[in-house]
Amino acid sequence: MGGQHKSERLQYFIEQLSRKCSDSNSLLDGILRMARKITRADAGTIFLTEGEELVFAYTHNDSLFSADEAYKHAYAAIRLPISKSSIAGYVAATGELLNLANVRALPPGVPYAFNESFDRKTGFVTRSMLTLPFLDGSGKRLGVLQLINSLCPAQGRVEAFGAEMEEDCRMLARAVSGILERTALEKKGIYGILRMAAVHDPTETGPHAERVGAIAAELYHAWAVGRGYDPDRIRHEKGCLRLAAMLHDIGKVGVSESILKKPGKLTEEEFAVMRGHTAIGASILAEDSGEIAALARDIALHHHQKWTGRGYAASGEEGKLAGEAIPLGARITAIADVFDALVSPRCYKKPWTFEDALDLLRKEAGEHFDPELVESMIGLEALLPSIYAVFPDKN
Ligand code: C2E
Ligand code: SIN
Ligand code: SIN
Ligand code: FE
Ligand code: FE
Repeated sequence: MGGQHKSERLQYFIEQLSRKCSDSNSLLDGILRMARKITRADAGTIFLTEGEELVFAYTHNDSLFSADEAYKHAYAAIRLPISKSSIAGYVAATGELLNLANVRALPPGVPYAFNESFDRKTGFVTRSMLTLPFLDGSGKRLGVLQLINSLCPAQGRVEAFGAEMEEDCRMLARAVSGILERTALEKKGIYGILRMAAVHDPTETGPHAERVGAIAAELYHAWAVGRGYDPDRIRHEKGCLRLAAMLHDIGKVGVSESILKKPGKLTEEEFAVMRGHTAIGASILAEDSGEIAALARDIALHHHQKWTGRGYAASGEEGKLAGEAIPLGARITAIADVFDALVSPRCYKKPWTFEDALDLLRKEAGEHFDPELVESMIGLEALLPSIYAVFPDKN
């Protein structure tokens, strides 16, 4: 009976999560939270398969950093081969679940070994570990969920993961697979649009869009935490914003290549055409419905607005907004976009250093940009290099 209720509660949680989550990051975060709650795990990590490797996708560790800080580790880009020599690699290679009471006293003869390098670097002490695979409907392995150190509720000591926890976690893992496939479809749609745009304008390729999306998302996160927003709301809106911001310049598909790729300064007429990419982007996205498309439309239309009202949202004089009348997502994306444009090479300019680009943002706080958001952006200074390391320009 108790088991029945618990599985219904889990099912309900999974349904809520799949309805709320707009991107795989917030989904993985929610699943990891629930898996850790069920198993009382002190830490946990999700790896996703990419070709022949496992990529460290998400981690929580209560002893080292709070879940609110965990997002920083999303950019850590740790990779493991899918092979039987590591614990996560073994689970990914075989599809078997491993429930290990003590990773420092493994049964004799097993092919895998515990990799101590993370513990050595951080001072964390891993003991018990429950590792299970994510499989899709056809049995394809999508990744691995790894839970670390189940804490005894009374004394807080580390103990082995109970057998009943294995079943609950398997259920969560099955749910992840289903939801991952759906969010993958939505992502595929957005990436498909971006690839079409890239044919026309190579600067609109993956890494640039990824960086603007990631910077905008982290900027929103820092700002929203500062305002004391509810963590569930932050996760949700951050996920939407990340995808929507990637489409900010999609309207450039409607601008001729001779203008887009002009090596020097644009004439006034050419720049008037260029300004039209905002309204063109909005008209492309208007056909769509849904939350992310609506946010993407706001961002495409308003990402060149300025805080003082001297920006633009069309080729002519129409549609200028100022201050908080500019949608939040667009004010955030404006900062991420200009930062990335400055530090990247363009056909019309050389790349700037991060310091110079941040100085320009500071100088333009209260002029071009929302000053409060510029503060949040400056707070991200230490995180920015890892975003550029994960999404480098190709060649
Ligand atoms: P973009 O390259 O994505 O630049 C986005 C925004 O970053 C620009 O919006 C501007 O606010 C800022 N930005 C980029 N480079 C610089 C720079 O060297 N100095 C400063 N202070 N800010 C910079 P903006 O000006 O509305 O331009 C929109 C788009 O128009 C640009 O997108 C780019 O595609 C095109 N564009 C702008 N100026 C030129 C130009 O002189 N030559 C060419 N070929 N294209 C240009
Ligand atoms: C959202 O509404 O999902 C994102 C909030 C924002 O940054 O505008
Ligand atoms: C672009 O090439 O996408 C324009 C620059 C930017 O969006 O940062
Ligand atoms: Fe733009
Ligand atoms: Fe841009």
